[in-house]
Amino acid sequence: MCGIMGVIGGHDAVPALIDGLQHLSYRGYDAAGVAVFNGEHIQIRKTAGSLDKLKTLLSGQPVRGDVGIGHTRWATHGAPTDCNAHPHTDARERIAVVHNGIIENERALRLQLAAEGVEFRSQTDTEVVAHLVAKYLKETCDLHCALRKAIEAIVGAYALVVMSVDEPDRLYAARKDSPLVIGLSAGTGRGQKAPLQFGETGQSPALNGAGYIASDIPALLPYTREIILLEDGDVARVQRDSVTIWDRSDTIVLRESKTIHWDQEAADKGDHITFMEKEMDEQPDAAARLLEAPLLQAAIPERVVFVACGSAYHAALIGRQYFAQLAGIPSEVEVASEFRYESPLPLNNAMCLAVSQSGETADTLAAMRQAKLRGARAVAIVNVQDSSIAREADAVQWMHAGPEIAVATTKGFTTQVLALLRIALEWGRRREWLTAGAARSWANDLNKLPELMREAIADTERARRFATAHIAPRLVFFIGRGLDTPTAMEGALKLKEISYQHAAAYAAGELKHGPIALIEIDVLVIALCTQRELLPKTISNIREVKARGAYVLALCQRRDEAALKQAADEVWTLPDAPDALMPLLAVLPLQRLAYEVALLRGCSVDKPRNLAKSVTVE
Ligand code: M6R
Repeated sequence: MCGIMGVIGGHDAVPALIDGLQHLSYRGYDAAGVAVFNGEHIQIRKTAGSLDKLKTLLSGQPVRGDVGIGHTRWATHGAPTDCNAHPHTDARERIAVVHNGIIENERALRLQLAAEGVEFRSQTDTEVVAHLVAKYLKETCDLHCALRKAIEAIVGAYALVVMSVDEPDRLYAARKDSPLVIGLSAGTGRGQKAPLQFGETGQSPALNGAGYIASDIPALLPYTREIILLEDGDVARVQRDSVTIWDRSDTIVLRESKTIHWDQEAADKGDHITFMEKEMDEQPDAAARLLEAPLLQAAIPERVVFVACGSAYHAALIGRQYFAQLAGIPSEVEVASEFRYESPLPLNNAMCLAVSQSGETADTLAAMRQAKLRGARAVAIVNVQDSSIAREADAVQWMHAGPEIAVATTKGFTTQVLALLRIALEWGRRREWLTAGAARSWANDLNKLPELMREAIADTERARRFATAHIAPRLVFFIGRGLDTPTAMEGALKLKEISYQHAAAYAAGELKHGPIALIEIDVLVIALCTQRELLPKTISNIREVKARGAYVLALCQRRDEAALKQAADEVWTLPDAPDALMPLLAVLPLQRLAYEVALLRGCSVDKPRNLAKSVTVE
């Protein structure tokens, strides 16, 4: 989704802005722009398309100055055009604004401002903010007050950075439901837990001649590891030598700085051609790390309500089966965007379990808040430290996946599933739902998991051959039963999002209730057959689709190969393991298959069209 970078002092703004935006570009965007103060004016350069296009524009029409803001835009209001790209300015171009999020009352504000004589130049909601700030600046002659009044008028989610010719040595930032971090220049107060140094206002950590603002930490790592995370409702003023932060009640507050320890390299591709490939290969190590990590500290609930989106929703569907089978705990799984608007029945005694790699997914965050209001305890399974969901949850299980950059999640999904499996086993043991012997044998099986994953991940060549031979644009079905059903859903989602091949996933038993009407010669069916107790049933479903002309690829445990060879056209085997571990193994070749199809089709694997890494708007 959109990226924000702001810089004040220390060096030429443009290279830092472009560099910062580049580090955020994995989130997905379709236009980019910068605004730089050159000592007299704010100069804007912006364009639809890539950062490379912006760089070309800047080399033809350079801008210089050490104060600037930059943005990569993922279109919501208005098409991805030059004109709709950020930054946006007021009529006199004395104020420039970049914005992530959505202003929900944009229409009303636009009409009101138009009635007051404002002429709009774009279709964006962000332009409204620039005009609002200008209007209030005229009234108050103070940018902080003007921004405060503007955000009081806004309904919706925002991370905003504002610069003005009238206060050229300051950048202002404000956030609500969309992340924003401030970077303090390197070398100053590194590692301190308290504010770095107090200035005259009582709340001004001293900077070293440069300050930064960004929508995510990776943008800042080349410049500093000392960061402050703004909280919802905060307004911040960043100057060359100080930062001042006001909370939602406009009181100056102390926000602790943190030292970021993770390495930029962890967020680089290394020898891999794509982030997705690197992240697929990292899965066994990520699993090993998670197996060593501390487990969630939370009282065992009577009932669990999962809220999640996309792949995290699929992980939750697997979690539901783990909780039932291994811990005897009932649960429901809700798509977060639906849950937040459903009837507000009480959730007393329930645990809301929010599953989110980024910890910033707007729908999941809103659903978790909604569940809390309805009386649930909120627990989150999250990868990104200090993300909004992690901060608002009562307890967190960290995924320990390391930075995930590719838009299509791989290690994020498998660590979510493994975290849920560990929690289910722990609760099952504590509730004595599992016998002591079963718990011991599970501990043994989990120890073997990273090695089993390495085996399951291996066959790139086979995936490439299959992709070449069988995935011409045709109907592709993924089917499975039990734990194979959500894995099938994840396989279909991976194929769709990175290769643009339509695919549908069904519980195999559902085929007869409608979808089998689509089966004919040339349809490809990928049948997940890893759940041994359900194998005879799935084999019957394979025969039904084969009888109607489908080509069937079956995935099964090695020990079932012979049985599947009689039913399917092609069989891929996975290591033998307990059925409950199979989602963690079966998804690996499905990810690889989607990846190979995407490469063959020349798709942008890491940044598929129309998608964003963290979906911070509704
Ligand atoms: O960061 P989250 O886990 O909350 O993200 C949820 C979904 O947006 C995400 O899983 C999405 O479906 C991925 N593109 C799937 O690969």
